[in-house]
Amino acid sequence: MFFVLLSFLQNEQHKKMIDIKKNYPLDKHNTFGIKCRTKYFASVKTENELKEVFESDYVEKYPWLVLGGGSNVLFRGDFPGLIVSMDIKGVQLLEEDDEFVKIKVAAGEDWDELVKNTVENQFGGLENLSYIPGKAGAAPIQNIGAYGVEVKDVLERVEFYHAENKSFITLKKSECKFAYRDSVFKHELKGKVVILYLILKLSKKQALKTSYGNIESELKKYEKRNIKNLREIIISTRKAKLPEPEKIGNAGSFFKNPVVKKSVFLKLKENHSSMPSYPVNNDKVKIPAAWLIEQCGWKGKNLGTHGIHDVQPLVLVNHGGATGKDIYSLAKEVQLSIENKFGILLDMEVNII
Ligand code: FAD
Ligand code: EPU
Repeated sequence: MFFVLLSFLQNEQHKKMIDIKKNYPLDKHNTFGIKCRTKYFASVKTENELKEVFESDYVEKYPWLVLGGGSNVLFRGDFPGLIVSMDIKGVQLLEEDDEFVKIKVAAGEDWDELVKNTVENQFGGLENLSYIPGKAGAAPIQNIGAYGVEVKDVLERVEFYHAENKSFITLKKSECKFAYRDSVFKHELKGKVVILYLILKLSKKQALKTSYGNIESELKKYEKRNIKNLREIIISTRKAKLPEPEKIGNAGSFFKNPVVKKSVFLKLKENHSSMPSYPVNNDKVKIPAAWLIEQCGWKGKNLGTHGIHDVQPLVLVNHGGATGKDIYSLAKEVQLSIENKFGILLDMEVNII
């Protein structure tokens, strides 16, 4: 079984000083493919290296930022401090019974490799989150979600390093304040912690979640209802809608879908009768930002180096050669046009650096 212990590299014998690179290019560390540099760059592969970095002068003197796969960031220019690249690897089986497994996943693990491995081992829970780029450590930051599942649904605890107290802390799910694309890590703990491990509880009984969009009807085309086939459907759905960052620079949805009071939605609907919505609770609905952006005429807008994707208008793209400032000013223009037409201020999902 792959979980037995892949590689927890807490090598106590590690004595070599960590290599901190200077004036390091970030082109390959952000999926927008923005050409920019950081003053310093440290790839952290062990807890000891992490402590070494956070006890060094660099974090005293300069701003610092943890980076996973760079698939949810937009660099508006060079970074004037230290980028800590999260590269601690390992997946460990903690507990197992007839129904569940609990695994501890290191923050530097590639997210989709993890999903693939859990599905191959027939542990259910992550399959709807297939093919999301990035590393495991970033998953709780915005509580990644797709196709009716959010990471909070399977997450038990998060272990992190608190850079101010220089201590290791565990938060239970209930303390993480998870919500739609939100968590305590985007508020009280923003810029203060380095997520190190996620403890996930996965199910051996496969309860498939298929209510999003056409997932159920797609699954009906398969002989077997299982997480392997569900993963396949999710991947092909995503491939049909979203640009591959290796081909077209992007960071997925640039904005969050706005959540508004039902009364506000009903008022808007008087003038925009085709406006779609999804219930959030008795009082609130979610309006697809993609629809709002399309209505403002942005879908497929090509400004040469950058623009708006022609299939999924929630995605801003770098066709090649765009700067972070180009993308950011386009995002502001989109935001403004939607505010003017609908009175709704879109929140950026992407972390602007
Ligand atoms: P990064 O971009 O490196 O970092 C994101 C933020 O988290 C930054 O603020 C960073 O400082 C912080 N951070 C990262 N790692 C750590 C850590 N270990 N400790 C503390 N802070 C940390 N997201 C969804 O939710 N659902 C989707 O369906 C989805 N689809 C996408 C499709 C595409 C094509 C792309 C490009 C992106 C998509 N995303 C989606 C967004 C993105 O993939 C996720 O948010 C992902 O979790 C980001 O992981 P990352 O490692 O690349 O994070
Ligand atoms: N729509 C349009 N025009 C379009 C495309 C979509 O009007 O060209 C409207 C339709 O009403 C459609 C609705 O938008 O039904 C929803 O579209 P889709 O299913 O593509 O999802 P989304 O709301 O645009 C969200 C997430 C994605 C996630 C998918 C699937 C946010 C901000 N985005 O997109 O997450 O993969 O649902 O669950 O919540 C990301 O966060 O980076 C991301 C890609």
